[in-house]
Amino acid sequence: MSILIKGGRVITADEDKIADVFIEDEAVAEIGESLDRAADRTIDANGKYVLPGGVDPHTHLDMPFGGTVTIDDVESGQTSAAFGGTTCHVDFIIQPQGSSFADAVEQWRGKANGKQVIDMGYHMAVTDLKGGGTLEELATLPDQGITSYKLFMAYKGALMVDDETLFRVMQVAAETGALVMVHAENGDAIHVLVEQALAEGKTEPKYHALTRPPETEGEATNRAIQLAHVAGCKLYVVHVSCRESVEPIARARQQGWDVWGETCTQYFFVDYTFLERPNFEGGKFVYTPPPRAKENQDVLWDAVRDDVLSVVSTDHCAFLWDGQKTLGKDDFSKIPNGAPGLENRLHMLHEFGVRSGRISLQRLVELWATNPAKYFGLYPRKGTIAVGSDADLVVFDPEKPHTISAATHHSKSDYNLYEGTEVTGSPEVVLLRGHVLVENDELVAQPGVGEFVKRARFGEELAPKQTAAAQA
Ligand code: URP
Ligand code: ZN
Ligand code: ZN
Repeated sequence: MSILIKGGRVITADEDKIADVFIEDEAVAEIGESLDRAADRTIDANGKYVLPGGVDPHTHLDMPFGGTVTIDDVESGQTSAAFGGTTCHVDFIIQPQGSSFADAVEQWRGKANGKQVIDMGYHMAVTDLKGGGTLEELATLPDQGITSYKLFMAYKGALMVDDETLFRVMQVAAETGALVMVHAENGDAIHVLVEQALAEGKTEPKYHALTRPPETEGEATNRAIQLAHVAGCKLYVVHVSCRESVEPIARARQQGWDVWGETCTQYFFVDYTFLERPNFEGGKFVYTPPPRAKENQDVLWDAVRDDVLSVVSTDHCAFLWDGQKTLGKDDFSKIPNGAPGLENRLHMLHEFGVRSGRISLQRLVELWATNPAKYFGLYPRKGTIAVGSDADLVVFDPEKPHTISAATHHSKSDYNLYEGTEVTGSPEVVLLRGHVLVENDELVAQPGVGEFVKRARFGEELAPKQTAAAQA
């Protein structure tokens, strides 16, 4: 199957030009002006942007968490990603305590098999080195394409690891070239604050934020940075939400340390006051780190513009409000932490980043596709438009109006963080390796089209996929 995308504005991190893109056998075969190529199908992209498919490095599909399981499985989560132009994501395998890493991988792959709508990889979240998983086994994962280790410095009594575990994993990463990712909050201090709040009868959703002050995020971010420097590993700080953690990342980067940071779409738009909404509506916005005081939003826009933060992910961790979030109706600490978002990252960044003049189109592409592909061993197969790259492309209509709503989104969640937001600009056609995934607001491809991607290590390039034709 060949496709010619004609006359679009092709935007990558490096270039912005009017060109045709010719796709053959799942990959981009040629890019140029007025290409004279016979194709099985031609897509007119006049007046449209042609963007690389989005890469979301931070999602939680079909994950047991907070006494329940996230509502989006691989099929529904990836379908919602596809409608938003995201064609590849990296999900977290959470090592069940007492389990080996091999068993955890098998369990997570079993959840995805046959259901995949987009391409995906995995990070390994290490929760326990005293049970089944060993450091020796952890060291073997990068050769299997799992080239990042995640550690939670919060969620005491559940996913949290102590500093010894964190530091030992960092040392393994320094040896294997894996990237260490941290959820940086001081889980011990938060545990004390939560216990004290509950003892004082403070049970509403807003106490989720009031018991996780920004200093607890700043302290843990700085601790992780210093420990990673001692261990000599590369560090990526996930879901940065506030000035207190932006500052230590900026300092480390100025010193030339191997530290990168991401924020997530919601931190630009949802602030602390959302948690105060009456009738438990605030429960919708209970995710971690929590929505912060509004002034942090400008700090985050500055940080993504100045490359203090280099990625915008979603941390998609969807629950139902009615039936899952309500587990914590009388106790904020029992509200499952997380929110949906996979579908609207491009909508929101285009509207409030690009159209509002905060970031350029090319910076948008870098934040939502190119940098995540680079840091997570997917580039240049993913995250750009180049000859030999997978034909993961979004034909984006910058004039198409779209109203974001749970009534029309594709997540199984019964609410949307950005409910009622009107944006101008939406994907028109989404391609995964040359297969049309979404067109005319319909899912065209069948689950099973997505594949598992064996990722390269940080700093290494991922070679083009060996398709049947390429091998012949
Ligand atoms: O509230 C959140 N962010 N839930 C997902 C787990 C995590 O901490 O990333
Ligand atoms: Zn987290
Ligand atoms: Zn997360």
